[in-house]
Amino acid sequence: MAHYYITTPIYYVNDAPHVGHAYCTVNADAMARWHRLLGDDTKFLTGTDEHGQKVADAALKNGVSPREWTDRTSRRFREAWDALDISYDDFIRTTEPRHYETVQKFLTAVYENGYIYKDVYQGLYCVSCEDYYTRESSDDGRCPIHGRVLSEMQEENWFFRLSAFAEPLERYYAEHPGFVTPETKRNEALSFIRGGLRDISITRTSISWGVPVPWDDQHVFYVWYDALINYLTAIGYGREDDRTGEWWPTSHHLVGKEILRFHCVWWPAMCMAAGLEPVSHVQVHGWLLVGGQKLSKTMAAEGAVKLTDIAPVTLTDEFGVDAIRYYLLRETSLGNDGDFSHEGITARYNTDLANNLGNLVARVSTIVASKCAGRGPAPEPTSELRVAAEAAVAGAREAWNRFAPQHALEATWGLIGATNAYLESTAPWKMEPGDALEAVMGNALEAIRLVSLLATPAIPRVCATIWSRIGLDGAPGDEVFDTAAQWGRYRAVHEIHKGEPLFPRIKVSDE
Ligand code: MSP
Repeated sequence: MAHYYITTPIYYVNDAPHVGHAYCTVNADAMARWHRLLGDDTKFLTGTDEHGQKVADAALKNGVSPREWTDRTSRRFREAWDALDISYDDFIRTTEPRHYETVQKFLTAVYENGYIYKDVYQGLYCVSCEDYYTRESSDDGRCPIHGRVLSEMQEENWFFRLSAFAEPLERYYAEHPGFVTPETKRNEALSFIRGGLRDISITRTSISWGVPVPWDDQHVFYVWYDALINYLTAIGYGREDDRTGEWWPTSHHLVGKEILRFHCVWWPAMCMAAGLEPVSHVQVHGWLLVGGQKLSKTMAAEGAVKLTDIAPVTLTDEFGVDAIRYYLLRETSLGNDGDFSHEGITARYNTDLANNLGNLVARVSTIVASKCAGRGPAPEPTSELRVAAEAAVAGAREAWNRFAPQHALEATWGLIGATNAYLESTAPWKMEPGDALEAVMGNALEAIRLVSLLATPAIPRVCATIWSRIGLDGAPGDEVFDTAAQWGRYRAVHEIHKGEPLFPRIKVSDE
Protein backbone atom coordinates (compact mmCIF):
# COMPACT_ATOMS: atom_id res chain seq x y z
CA MET A 1 0.00 0.00 0.00
CA ALA A 2 1.32 3.44 -0.91
CA HIS A 3 2.15 5.82 1.93
CA TYR A 4 1.12 9.45 1.86
CA TYR A 5 2.40 11.83 4.54
CA ILE A 6 1.18 15.44 4.37
CA THR A 7 1.81 18.31 6.76
CA THR A 8 0.70 21.90 7.31
CA PRO A 9 3.02 24.42 8.90
CA ILE A 10 2.55 24.50 12.65
CA TYR A 11 0.76 27.70 13.61
CA TYR A 12 2.05 30.30 16.05
CA VAL A 13 -0.12 30.54 19.10
CA ASN A 14 0.40 34.24 19.72
CA ASP A 15 -3.25 34.78 18.79
CA ALA A 16 -6.42 33.08 17.56
CA PRO A 17 -6.66 31.27 14.20
CA HIS A 18 -8.03 33.14 11.17
CA VAL A 19 -9.17 32.12 7.70
CA GLY A 20 -5.64 32.53 6.28
CA HIS A 21 -4.57 29.61 8.46
CA ALA A 22 -7.73 27.76 7.48
CA TYR A 23 -6.81 28.18 3.82
CA CYS A 24 -3.66 26.14 4.25
CA THR A 25 -5.21 23.55 6.56
CA VAL A 26 -8.27 22.95 4.35
CA ASN A 27 -6.06 22.42 1.30
CA ALA A 28 -3.94 19.89 3.17
CA ASP A 29 -7.07 18.20 4.51
CA ALA A 30 -8.54 17.83 1.03
CA MET A 31 -5.30 16.24 -0.17
CA ALA A 32 -5.26 13.84 2.79
CA ARG A 33 -8.87 12.88 2.09
CA TRP A 34 -8.08 12.36 -1.58
CA HIS A 35 -5.29 9.97 -0.75
CA ARG A 36 -7.40 8.06 1.74
CA LEU A 37 -9.97 7.71 -1.03
CA LEU A 38 -7.29 6.29 -3.30
CA GLY A 39 -6.66 3.71 -0.57
CA ASP A 40 -3.24 5.08 0.44
CA ASP A 41 -2.01 4.68 3.99
CA THR A 42 -2.28 8.36 4.87
CA LYS A 43 -0.91 10.46 7.70
CA PHE A 44 -2.00 14.09 8.00
CA LEU A 45 -0.15 16.21 10.52
CA THR A 46 -0.92 19.69 11.79
CA GLY A 47 -0.26 21.44 15.07
CA THR A 48 0.96 24.51 16.90
CA ASP A 49 4.33 26.24 17.13
CA GLU A 50 4.55 27.28 20.74
CA HIS A 51 8.05 28.57 21.44
CA GLY A 52 9.79 31.80 20.57
CA GLN A 53 9.68 35.39 21.60
CA LYS A 54 6.41 36.22 19.87
CA VAL A 55 4.50 33.64 21.91
CA ALA A 56 6.34 34.51 25.14
CA ASP A 57 5.47 38.21 24.55
CA ALA A 58 1.79 37.37 23.94
CA ALA A 59 1.62 35.41 27.22
CA LEU A 60 3.25 38.28 29.10
CA LYS A 61 0.86 40.80 27.57
CA ASN A 62 -2.09 38.67 28.65
CA GLY A 63 -0.72 38.20 32.16
CA VAL A 64 -0.44 34.41 32.07
CA SER A 65 2.45 31.95 31.90
CA PRO A 66 3.58 30.84 28.42
CA ARG A 67 2.39 27.34 29.27
CA GLU A 68 -1.11 28.53 30.17
CA TRP A 69 -1.25 30.79 27.12
CA THR A 70 -0.18 28.06 24.71
CA ASP A 71 -2.64 25.56 26.21
CA ARG A 72 -5.43 28.04 25.70
CA THR A 73 -4.55 29.15 22.18
CA SER A 74 -3.58 25.73 20.88
CA ARG A 75 -7.05 24.57 21.93
CA ARG A 76 -8.58 27.34 19.79
CA PHE A 77 -6.81 25.97 16.74
CA ARG A 78 -8.21 22.53 17.40
CA GLU A 79 -11.69 23.98 17.83
CA ALA A 80 -11.35 25.79 14.50
CA TRP A 81 -10.22 22.59 12.79
CA ASP A 82 -13.14 20.67 14.30
CA ALA A 83 -15.54 23.29 12.94
CA LEU A 84 -13.95 22.89 9.50
CA ASP A 85 -14.09 19.05 9.50
CA ILE A 86 -10.31 18.77 9.42
CA SER A 87 -9.35 15.10 9.51
CA TYR A 88 -5.84 15.36 10.95
CA ASP A 89 -4.30 12.12 12.19
CA ASP A 90 -1.93 13.83 14.59
CA PHE A 91 -1.84 17.27 16.19
CA ILE A 92 1.59 18.21 17.38
CA ARG A 93 2.46 20.81 20.00
CA THR A 94 6.11 21.80 20.12
CA THR A 95 5.96 21.92 23.92
CA GLU A 96 5.37 18.16 24.11
CA PRO A 97 8.10 15.89 25.55
CA ARG A 98 8.17 13.81 22.32
CA HIS A 99 9.16 16.94 20.40
CA TYR A 100 11.92 17.88 22.86
CA GLU A 101 13.34 14.40 22.54
CA THR A 102 13.35 14.39 18.71
CA VAL A 103 14.75 17.95 18.46
CA GLN A 104 17.58 17.12 20.82
CA LYS A 105 18.40 13.89 18.97
CA PHE A 106 18.31 15.59 15.57
CA LEU A 107 20.42 18.58 16.60
CA THR A 108 22.91 16.44 18.47
CA ALA A 109 23.46 14.59 15.18
CA VAL A 110 24.01 17.92 13.38
CA TYR A 111 26.40 19.02 16.16
CA GLU A 112 28.33 15.78 16.09
CA ASN A 113 28.62 16.00 12.32
CA GLY A 114 30.46 19.30 12.82
CA TYR A 115 27.90 21.77 11.46
CA ILE A 116 27.27 23.75 14.64
CA TYR A 117 29.74 26.22 16.19
CA LYS A 118 29.71 29.15 18.64
CA ASP A 119 30.00 32.82 17.65
CA VAL A 120 28.56 36.25 18.37
CA TYR A 121 25.39 37.26 16.53
CA GLN A 122 24.86 40.91 15.86
CA GLY A 123 22.08 42.11 13.62
CA LEU A 124 18.41 42.88 13.13
CA TYR A 125 15.45 40.73 14.11
CA CYS A 126 11.68 40.78 13.49
CA VAL A 127 9.69 39.23 16.31
CA SER A 128 6.56 38.91 14.14
CA CYS A 129 8.45 36.83 11.55
CA GLU A 130 10.79 35.37 14.15
CA ASP A 131 13.42 36.01 11.49
CA TYR A 132 16.74 37.78 10.98
CA TYR A 133 17.35 40.65 8.63
CA THR A 134 20.42 42.49 7.42
CA ARG A 135 20.36 46.23 6.72
CA GLU A 136 20.15 45.40 3.01
CA SER A 137 17.28 42.89 3.29
CA SER A 138 15.31 45.23 5.56
CA ASP A 139 13.13 48.11 4.48
CA ASP A 140 15.32 50.84 5.85
CA GLY A 141 15.46 49.20 9.29
CA ARG A 142 11.84 48.00 9.11
CA CYS A 143 10.49 44.51 8.48
CA PRO A 144 9.52 44.19 4.78
CA ILE A 145 6.55 41.95 5.71
CA HIS A 146 5.22 43.53 8.92
CA GLY A 147 6.47 47.09 8.54
CA ARG A 148 7.64 47.15 12.17
CA VAL A 149 10.93 48.65 13.29
CA LEU A 150 13.38 45.76 13.61
CA SER A 151 15.12 45.12 16.93
CA GLU A 152 18.90 45.14 17.25
CA MET A 153 20.29 41.91 18.65
CA GLN A 154 23.70 41.02 19.99
CA GLU A 155 24.26 37.66 21.68
CA GLU A 156 26.71 34.83 21.87
CA ASN A 157 24.91 32.04 19.99
CA TRP A 158 25.39 28.66 18.46
CA PHE A 159 25.43 28.85 14.66
CA PHE A 160 24.43 26.40 11.94
CA ARG A 161 26.88 26.20 9.05
CA LEU A 162 24.27 26.79 6.33
CA SER A 163 27.00 28.17 4.04
CA ALA A 164 28.39 24.65 3.64
CA PHE A 165 25.23 23.53 1.84
CA ALA A 166 24.96 25.78 -1.19
CA GLU A 167 26.45 23.22 -3.53
CA PRO A 168 24.69 20.12 -2.03
CA LEU A 169 21.39 22.01 -2.21
CA GLU A 170 21.89 22.96 -5.85
CA ARG A 171 22.64 19.34 -6.60
CA TYR A 172 19.57 18.19 -4.70
CA TYR A 173 17.38 20.60 -6.69
CA ALA A 174 18.90 19.42 -9.97
CA GLU A 175 18.31 15.77 -9.09
CA HIS A 176 14.77 16.36 -7.76
CA PRO A 177 13.01 18.65 -10.24
CA GLY A 178 9.68 18.24 -8.43
CA PHE A 179 11.08 19.14 -5.00
CA VAL A 180 9.38 22.56 -4.87
CA THR A 181 6.14 23.36 -6.71
CA PRO A 182 4.98 25.51 -8.40
CA GLU A 183 7.95 26.14 -10.68
CA THR A 184 8.04 29.89 -9.91
CA LYS A 185 8.58 29.11 -6.24
CA ARG A 186 11.26 26.58 -7.08
CA ASN A 187 13.09 29.30 -8.98
CA GLU A 188 12.71 31.66 -6.05
CA ALA A 189 14.24 29.10 -3.70
CA LEU A 190 17.09 28.48 -6.12
CA SER A 191 17.82 32.17 -6.36
CA PHE A 192 18.09 32.35 -2.55
CA ILE A 193 20.63 29.58 -2.72
CA ARG A 194 22.54 31.19 -5.57
CA GLY A 195 22.42 34.57 -3.83
CA GLY A 196 24.80 33.20 -1.16
CA LEU A 197 24.00 31.42 2.10
CA ARG A 198 25.07 32.84 5.46
CA ASP A 199 25.38 30.75 8.59
CA ILE A 200 22.42 31.15 10.95
CA SER A 201 22.24 31.71 14.64
CA ILE A 202 20.16 28.86 16.06
CA THR A 203 20.11 29.41 19.82
CA ARG A 204 19.15 32.10 22.33
CA THR A 205 20.26 33.01 25.81
CA SER A 206 17.97 36.02 26.17
CA ILE A 207 14.83 33.90 26.46
CA SER A 208 14.22 30.60 28.20
CA TRP A 209 10.97 29.66 26.39
CA GLY A 210 12.34 27.03 24.03
CA VAL A 211 13.87 23.58 23.72
CA PRO A 212 17.09 23.40 25.81
CA VAL A 213 20.33 22.82 23.90
CA PRO A 214 21.56 19.42 25.12
CA TRP A 215 25.27 20.34 25.12
CA ASP A 216 24.93 23.85 26.60
CA ASP A 217 22.35 24.52 29.31
CA GLN A 218 22.62 28.31 28.99
CA HIS A 219 20.88 28.17 25.59
CA VAL A 220 17.51 27.27 24.10
CA PHE A 221 17.02 26.64 20.39
CA TYR A 222 15.77 29.42 18.14
CA VAL A 223 12.07 28.83 17.44
CA TRP A 224 12.37 28.10 13.69
CA TYR A 225 15.08 25.62 14.35
CA ASP A 226 12.95 23.54 16.65
CA ALA A 227 9.73 24.10 14.67
CA LEU A 228 10.89 22.57 11.40
CA ILE A 229 11.83 19.37 13.17
CA ASN A 230 8.15 18.80 14.15
CA TYR A 231 7.69 16.95 10.86
CA LEU A 232 10.09 14.30 12.13
CA THR A 233 8.77 14.28 15.70
CA ALA A 234 5.42 13.04 14.45
CA ILE A 235 7.03 10.01 12.83
CA GLY A 236 9.16 9.21 15.85
CA TYR A 237 12.62 10.27 14.60
CA GLY A 238 15.32 9.34 17.12
CA ARG A 239 12.85 7.79 19.54
CA GLU A 240 11.83 4.30 20.46
CA ASP A 241 8.78 4.46 18.18
CA ASP A 242 10.87 5.63 15.17
CA ARG A 243 8.92 5.15 11.91
CA THR A 244 11.03 7.46 9.78
CA GLY A 245 11.86 4.59 7.44
CA GLU A 246 8.19 4.19 6.61
CA TRP A 247 7.11 7.84 6.20
CA TRP A 248 10.28 9.66 5.16
CA PRO A 249 11.51 11.15 2.82
CA THR A 250 8.46 10.68 0.57
CA SER A 251 6.39 13.37 2.22
CA HIS A 252 4.64 16.62 1.35
CA HIS A 253 4.90 19.92 3.21
CA LEU A 254 2.26 22.49 2.30
CA VAL A 255 3.53 25.98 3.22
CA GLY A 256 2.78 29.64 2.61
CA LYS A 257 5.07 31.64 0.35
CA GLU A 258 6.60 33.74 3.13
CA ILE A 259 8.07 30.65 4.79
CA LEU A 260 9.52 29.21 1.60
CA ARG A 261 13.13 29.99 2.57
CA PHE A 262 12.83 28.08 5.83
CA HIS A 263 11.33 25.02 4.15
CA CYS A 264 13.13 25.02 0.84
CA VAL A 265 16.60 26.15 1.92
CA TRP A 266 17.16 25.75 5.66
CA TRP A 267 15.19 22.57 6.19
CA PRO A 268 16.77 20.43 3.43
CA ALA A 269 20.20 21.67 4.55
CA MET A 270 19.42 20.76 8.17
CA CYS A 271 18.37 17.28 7.09
CA MET A 272 21.55 16.82 5.08
CA ALA A 273 23.59 17.99 8.09
CA ALA A 274 21.88 15.39 10.28
CA GLY A 275 22.61 12.71 7.68
CA LEU A 276 19.00 12.42 6.58
CA GLU A 277 17.52 12.66 3.08
CA PRO A 278 15.44 15.89 2.75
CA VAL A 279 11.68 15.78 2.36
CA SER A 280 10.65 14.93 -1.21
CA HIS A 281 8.12 17.69 -1.89
CA VAL A 282 7.27 21.19 -0.73
CA GLN A 283 4.09 22.70 -2.19
CA VAL A 284 4.00 26.47 -1.79
CA HIS A 285 0.75 28.44 -1.66
CA GLY A 286 -0.02 32.15 -1.87
CA TRP A 287 -1.92 34.40 0.52
CA LEU A 288 -5.52 35.33 1.03
CA LEU A 289 -5.66 39.07 0.67
CA VAL A 290 -8.11 41.73 1.75
CA GLY A 291 -7.82 44.95 -0.22
CA GLY A 292 -4.47 43.74 -1.58
CA GLN A 293 -3.01 43.06 1.88
CA LYS A 294 -2.18 39.76 3.57
CA LEU A 295 -4.89 38.81 5.97
CA SER A 296 -3.10 38.60 9.30
CA LYS A 297 -3.30 39.15 13.01
CA THR A 298 -1.22 42.28 12.50
CA MET A 299 -3.79 43.58 10.01
CA ALA A 300 -6.55 42.84 12.51
CA ALA A 301 -4.60 44.65 15.22
CA GLU A 302 -4.52 47.72 12.95
CA GLY A 303 -8.31 47.62 12.61
CA ALA A 304 -8.34 46.88 8.84
CA VAL A 305 -10.44 43.81 9.50
CA LYS A 306 -12.02 42.34 12.64
CA LEU A 307 -10.29 39.16 13.78
CA THR A 308 -13.64 37.68 14.81
CA ASP A 309 -15.04 38.29 11.28
CA ILE A 310 -12.30 36.15 9.80
CA ALA A 311 -12.30 33.49 12.52
CA PRO A 312 -12.99 30.06 10.99
CA VAL A 313 -15.68 29.34 13.57
CA THR A 314 -17.56 32.58 12.77
CA LEU A 315 -17.44 31.81 9.06
CA THR A 316 -18.65 28.23 9.39
CA ASP A 317 -21.49 29.43 11.63
CA GLU A 318 -22.47 31.99 9.02
CA PHE A 319 -22.10 30.02 5.78
CA GLY A 320 -21.77 26.37 6.82
CA VAL A 321 -18.63 24.27 6.76
CA ASP A 322 -19.02 23.02 3.18
CA ALA A 323 -19.42 26.52 1.78
CA ILE A 324 -16.24 27.76 3.46
CA ARG A 325 -14.23 24.71 2.45
CA TYR A 326 -15.51 24.97 -1.10
CA TYR A 327 -14.68 28.65 -1.35
CA LEU A 328 -11.16 28.19 0.00
CA LEU A 329 -10.42 25.34 -2.40
CA ARG A 330 -12.22 26.62 -5.48
CA GLU A 331 -11.53 30.31 -5.62
CA THR A 332 -7.76 30.44 -5.97
CA SER A 333 -5.28 28.17 -7.64
CA LEU A 334 -2.65 26.95 -5.20
CA GLY A 335 0.48 29.08 -5.55
CA ASN A 336 -1.30 32.35 -6.43
CA ASP A 337 -2.64 34.99 -4.07
CA GLY A 338 -6.41 35.26 -3.84
CA ASP A 339 -8.91 37.78 -2.57
CA PHE A 340 -10.98 36.97 0.43
CA SER A 341 -14.38 38.57 0.95
CA HIS A 342 -17.80 37.77 2.32
CA GLU A 343 -19.25 38.83 -1.06
CA GLY A 344 -16.96 36.31 -2.76
CA ILE A 345 -18.15 33.51 -0.49
CA THR A 346 -21.78 34.50 -1.03
CA ALA A 347 -21.36 34.53 -4.81
CA ARG A 348 -19.74 31.08 -4.89
CA TYR A 349 -22.36 29.78 -2.52
CA ASN A 350 -25.32 31.03 -4.52
CA THR A 351 -23.94 30.04 -7.91
CA ASP A 352 -21.98 26.84 -7.51
CA LEU A 353 -23.57 25.34 -4.43
CA ALA A 354 -27.18 26.54 -4.40
CA ASN A 355 -27.93 26.92 -8.13
CA ASN A 356 -25.78 24.17 -9.60
CA LEU A 357 -25.28 21.41 -7.05
CA GLY A 358 -28.23 21.98 -4.71
CA ASN A 359 -30.76 22.43 -7.50
CA LEU A 360 -29.56 19.38 -9.37
CA VAL A 361 -30.05 17.13 -6.34
CA ALA A 362 -33.41 18.72 -5.53
CA ARG A 363 -34.65 18.45 -9.10
CA VAL A 364 -33.69 14.82 -9.51
CA SER A 365 -35.07 13.70 -6.16
CA THR A 366 -38.36 15.54 -6.79
CA ILE A 367 -38.90 13.81 -10.14
CA VAL A 368 -37.89 10.40 -8.77
CA ALA A 369 -40.31 10.90 -5.87
CA SER A 370 -43.21 11.84 -8.09
CA LYS A 371 -42.63 9.69 -11.16
CA CYS A 372 -40.53 6.69 -10.07
CA ALA A 373 -42.29 5.91 -6.78
CA GLY A 374 -39.28 7.23 -4.84
CA ARG A 375 -36.93 4.50 -6.09
CA GLY A 376 -33.82 5.43 -8.04
CA PRO A 377 -33.59 3.57 -11.37
CA ALA A 378 -30.33 2.17 -12.77
CA PRO A 379 -28.26 4.14 -15.32
CA GLU A 380 -27.88 3.02 -18.93
CA PRO A 381 -24.60 1.37 -19.92
CA THR A 382 -24.08 3.98 -22.61
CA SER A 383 -25.32 7.54 -22.61
CA GLU A 384 -24.05 11.03 -23.41
CA LEU A 385 -23.87 11.60 -19.66
CA ARG A 386 -21.49 8.68 -19.29
CA VAL A 387 -19.08 10.42 -21.66
CA ALA A 388 -19.26 13.63 -19.59
CA ALA A 389 -18.87 11.65 -16.35
CA GLU A 390 -15.80 9.81 -17.57
CA ALA A 391 -14.20 13.07 -18.65
CA ALA A 392 -14.91 14.58 -15.22
CA VAL A 393 -13.52 11.54 -13.40
CA ALA A 394 -10.32 11.66 -15.47
CA GLY A 395 -9.95 15.43 -15.07
CA ALA A 396 -10.59 15.43 -11.33
CA ARG A 397 -8.31 12.46 -10.72
CA GLU A 398 -5.46 14.11 -12.60
CA ALA A 399 -5.98 17.43 -10.80
CA TRP A 400 -6.20 15.93 -7.31
CA ASN A 401 -3.05 13.93 -8.06
CA ARG A 402 -1.12 17.05 -8.99
CA PHE A 403 -2.21 18.93 -5.88
CA ALA A 404 -4.68 21.16 -7.72
CA PRO A 405 -7.99 21.13 -5.78
CA GLN A 406 -9.29 24.11 -7.75
CA HIS A 407 -9.04 22.21 -11.02
CA ALA A 408 -10.44 19.03 -9.50
CA LEU A 409 -13.50 21.01 -8.47
CA GLU A 410 -13.73 22.68 -11.87
CA ALA A 411 -13.83 19.23 -13.51
CA THR A 412 -16.44 18.06 -11.01
CA TRP A 413 -18.64 21.10 -11.58
CA GLY A 414 -18.30 20.41 -15.29
CA LEU A 415 -20.22 17.20 -14.66
CA ILE A 416 -22.85 19.05 -12.63
CA GLY A 417 -23.27 21.45 -15.55
CA ALA A 418 -23.48 18.59 -18.05
CA THR A 419 -26.11 16.83 -15.93
CA ASN A 420 -28.23 19.96 -15.61
CA ALA A 421 -27.97 20.47 -19.38
CA TYR A 422 -28.90 16.82 -19.97
CA LEU A 423 -32.03 17.30 -17.86
CA GLU A 424 -32.89 20.48 -19.74
CA SER A 425 -32.63 18.69 -23.07
CA THR A 426 -34.43 15.48 -22.04
CA ALA A 427 -37.04 17.36 -19.91
CA PRO A 428 -38.03 14.37 -17.72
CA TRP A 429 -40.63 16.54 -15.96
CA LYS A 430 -42.64 16.38 -19.19
CA MET A 431 -42.20 12.62 -19.67
CA GLU A 432 -44.68 9.95 -18.69
CA PRO A 433 -43.52 7.28 -16.20
CA GLY A 434 -41.88 4.41 -18.08
CA ASP A 435 -38.58 3.07 -19.37
CA ALA A 436 -37.43 6.25 -21.10
CA LEU A 437 -37.96 8.35 -18.00
CA GLU A 438 -36.29 5.72 -15.80
CA ALA A 439 -33.22 5.73 -18.04
CA VAL A 440 -32.86 9.52 -17.82
CA MET A 441 -33.25 9.51 -14.05
CA GLY A 442 -30.87 6.57 -13.61
CA ASN A 443 -28.24 8.42 -15.63
CA ALA A 444 -28.75 11.61 -13.62
CA LEU A 445 -28.52 9.72 -10.31
CA GLU A 446 -25.35 8.01 -11.43
CA ALA A 447 -23.86 11.41 -12.31
CA ILE A 448 -24.84 12.70 -8.86
CA ARG A 449 -23.20 9.68 -7.24
CA LEU A 450 -19.98 10.40 -9.15
CA VAL A 451 -20.11 14.10 -8.27
CA SER A 452 -20.33 13.18 -4.56
CA LEU A 453 -17.36 10.88 -4.93
CA LEU A 454 -15.21 13.43 -6.77
CA ALA A 455 -16.08 16.29 -4.43
CA THR A 456 -15.86 14.39 -1.15
CA PRO A 457 -12.23 15.36 -0.41
CA ALA A 458 -13.31 19.00 -0.62
CA ILE A 459 -16.80 19.03 0.91
CA PRO A 460 -17.18 15.72 2.74
CA ARG A 461 -20.18 16.63 4.85
CA VAL A 462 -22.61 17.53 2.09
CA CYS A 463 -21.32 14.71 -0.11
CA ALA A 464 -22.21 12.23 2.62
CA THR A 465 -25.68 13.78 2.83
CA ILE A 466 -26.18 13.52 -0.93
CA TRP A 467 -24.92 9.93 -0.87
CA SER A 468 -27.58 8.93 1.62
CA ARG A 469 -30.28 10.99 -0.13
CA ILE A 470 -29.78 8.94 -3.26
CA GLY A 471 -30.18 5.83 -1.15
CA LEU A 472 -26.57 4.67 -0.81
CA ASP A 473 -25.06 3.23 2.36
CA GLY A 474 -22.12 4.76 4.20
CA ALA A 475 -20.39 7.79 2.73
CA PRO A 476 -18.39 8.42 -0.46
CA GLY A 477 -15.25 8.87 1.66
CA ASP A 478 -15.49 5.18 2.64
CA GLU A 479 -15.20 4.04 -0.97
CA VAL A 480 -12.12 2.98 -2.89
CA PHE A 481 -11.84 5.46 -5.72
CA ASP A 482 -10.82 3.26 -8.64
CA THR A 483 -13.76 0.92 -8.20
CA ALA A 484 -16.32 3.50 -7.15
CA ALA A 485 -15.46 5.88 -10.00
CA GLN A 486 -16.67 3.44 -12.66
CA TRP A 487 -19.88 4.31 -14.46
CA GLY A 488 -22.80 2.01 -13.75
CA ARG A 489 -22.39 1.20 -10.08
CA TYR A 490 -25.66 2.84 -9.09
CA ARG A 491 -28.23 0.05 -8.82
CA ALA A 492 -31.98 0.16 -9.32
CA VAL A 493 -33.18 -0.48 -5.79
CA HIS A 494 -32.23 2.66 -3.93
CA GLU A 495 -34.73 4.69 -2.03
CA ILE A 496 -34.47 8.43 -2.59
CA HIS A 497 -34.93 10.89 0.29
CA LYS A 498 -35.95 14.38 -0.68
CA GLY A 499 -34.93 16.31 2.45
CA GLU A 500 -34.44 20.02 3.00
CA PRO A 501 -32.64 22.17 0.41
CA LEU A 502 -28.91 21.49 0.70
CA PHE A 503 -27.94 25.13 0.18
CA PRO A 504 -30.80 27.57 0.73
CA ARG A 505 -29.97 30.69 -1.30
CA ILE A 506 -28.43 33.59 0.57
CA LYS A 507 -30.31 36.83 -0.08
CA VAL A 508 -28.07 39.55 -1.40
CA SER A 509 -29.18 43.04 -0.35
CA ASP A 510 -29.83 44.39 -3.88
CA GLU A 511 -31.74 41.29 -5.05
N1 MSP B 1 5.09 28.92 12.96
C1 MSP B 1 5.47 29.21 11.62
C2 MSP B 1 5.51 27.95 10.76
C3 MSP B 1 6.45 26.89 11.27
S1 MSP B 1 6.39 25.45 10.26
C4 MSP B 1 7.66 24.53 10.77
C5 MSP B 1 4.48 30.19 11.00
N2 MSP B 1 3.28 30.28 11.57
S2 MSP B 1 2.10 31.26 11.12
O1 MSP B 1 1.03 31.00 12.03
O2 MSP B 1 2.58 32.60 11.05
O3 MSP B 1 1.72 30.86 9.64
C6 MSP B 1 1.41 29.54 9.32
C7 MSP B 1 0.90 29.40 7.92
O4 MSP B 1 -0.29 30.16 7.75
C8 MSP B 1 1.88 29.89 6.84
O5 MSP B 1 2.02 28.92 5.83
C9 MSP B 1 1.21 31.10 6.29
O6 MSP B 1 1.47 31.31 4.93
C10 MSP B 1 -0.25 30.76 6.51
N3 MSP B 1 -1.02 31.99 6.48
C11 MSP B 1 -1.12 32.97 7.42
N4 MSP B 1 -1.85 34.00 6.90
C12 MSP B 1 -2.22 33.71 5.63
C13 MSP B 1 -3.04 34.30 4.67
N5 MSP B 1 -3.56 35.49 4.85
N6 MSP B 1 -3.30 33.59 3.55
C14 MSP B 1 -2.84 32.31 3.35
N7 MSP B 1 -2.06 31.73 4.23
C15 MSP B 1 -1.61 32.45 5.29
O7 MSP B 1 4.82 30.81 10.00
